[in-house]
Amino acid sequence: MVSRVIPVQPFDLVIFGATGDLARRKILPGLYRRMVAGQMPTGARIIGAARSSLTTKAFREMVREALDTFVGTSEIDEEIAAAFLTALDYVAIDATGEGGWAELGKKLDKGDNAVRAFYLSVGPSLFGPIAERLQSTGIATSTSRIVVEKPLGHDLESAKALNAQLAESFDERQIYRIDHYLGKETVQNLMAVRFANSLFEPLWNARHVDHVQITVSEDIGVGGRGGYYDKSGAMRDMVQNHLMQLLCLTAMEPPAQFDADRVRDEKLKVIRSLEPVDPDDTVRGQYRAGPDGPSYKEDAENPDSRTESYVALKACISNWRWTGTPFYLRTGKRLRARMSEIAVVFKEPPHSIFPKLPPHQTNALIIRLQPNEGITLRMTIKEPGPGGMRLADVPLDMSFAEALGPSAEAMPDAYERLIMDVIRGDQTLFMRGDEVEAAWAWADKILDDWEEERDIPRPYDAGGSGPEDALRLMHRDGRRWREIEG
Ligand code: BG6
Repeated sequence: MVSRVIPVQPFDLVIFGATGDLARRKILPGLYRRMVAGQMPTGARIIGAARSSLTTKAFREMVREALDTFVGTSEIDEEIAAAFLTALDYVAIDATGEGGWAELGKKLDKGDNAVRAFYLSVGPSLFGPIAERLQSTGIATSTSRIVVEKPLGHDLESAKALNAQLAESFDERQIYRIDHYLGKETVQNLMAVRFANSLFEPLWNARHVDHVQITVSEDIGVGGRGGYYDKSGAMRDMVQNHLMQLLCLTAMEPPAQFDADRVRDEKLKVIRSLEPVDPDDTVRGQYRAGPDGPSYKEDAENPDSRTESYVALKACISNWRWTGTPFYLRTGKRLRARMSEIAVVFKEPPHSIFPKLPPHQTNALIIRLQPNEGITLRMTIKEPGPGGMRLADVPLDMSFAEALGPSAEAMPDAYERLIMDVIRGDQTLFMRGDEVEAAWAWADKILDDWEEERDIPRPYDAGGSGPEDALRLMHRDGRRWREIEG
């Protein structure tokens, strides 16, 4: 199967913070890969904007280095790279002052590209000031788009303030809030599996689903990002956004159409149906030093840190479809492996005519986000051979790489896909302001409870599967986590 590249209109993309880590690591390499894929239209322009007073030539050199590092020298096609660098321009800008705005305006006016997008790859304190400048200088038009990314607030109040600042200069339909998990291929496949097949939907409810487990496990620590992370922790960094989005897509009702507002309306309904989480249904952890690396406290350079690098919790959705089916979420750093998956675990058959299966061996549909993206259906079959009816639990396995061949290898990275969606004007895979606020309202209660109780995260071994208490969270309900394995 060969993947189709759907061309986009010529565009001007201005990247604020173009010399920063995200731009060099993800955004610019992603755009280069889109050019390799043939999706970058002739005439597209990418204008880097940052505080440093660089010439366009120096900016191009910096981007070339970023491509060498993050795409890899051996992967680079010199001809395409040259064309890509030619599409780049640079303007030194003072986000909160006067410098550079007139020059940016002139550069944009020179072109005749209809699509204008502004990617704010900068700290959230600059979102408001930049949005205001773009509007007051007339650089942003009524069809321009603005792209922002987390942290989208620290709690409900700050998220509301951020949304209000953006709303002063841009309409909601112009605002693209990135959650890069929504750009992952398998996350979208979750919607395809649910809504393009008639097989699962009749079973997708509390009558048939015992529970859902959502795991995002990382083997890396917070080294290098300790300063940011220590103020955030796993709840704000991962659960309020990435895991919440996975929960929403798993739990939402089928939207009437696959369009941005209908999908986001359904996700919002899920968040609003979440019950407040009981503190006893949460576990926080912090990794100890291990043979391969320092402890969290050392990484964060804060010997007294009470920030969690691990969270496990039980979330309950109060609606007709899900009451009685808990959603267990867990995420952590420095665990055994990098593994993200959603496991929908079905109930046992109501009456068994066979010898009982070992506990925990019921049907499960596992959607693997990474690594080795794919879908597995765990089935019970007869163990082969004579000697009676013994049952075995086996996987019906589909790895996208095997099933889709070369087109799976050419799958765009989440950022590539999302940036192209911005250009296309498709907000389906972006979070709406009300969604972000509702997710904060839910997360705030958990964060406040921890703060009130002065909860100390449980230490856990680096390279393990998280704190013991997280295992107990499941055991006490007669369930258990799936193994974390890469
Ligand atoms: C980011 C978090 O949003 O997602 C990081 O800030 C985390 O802490 C990362 O490591 C995980 O993303 P991925 O795509 O590697 O699973």
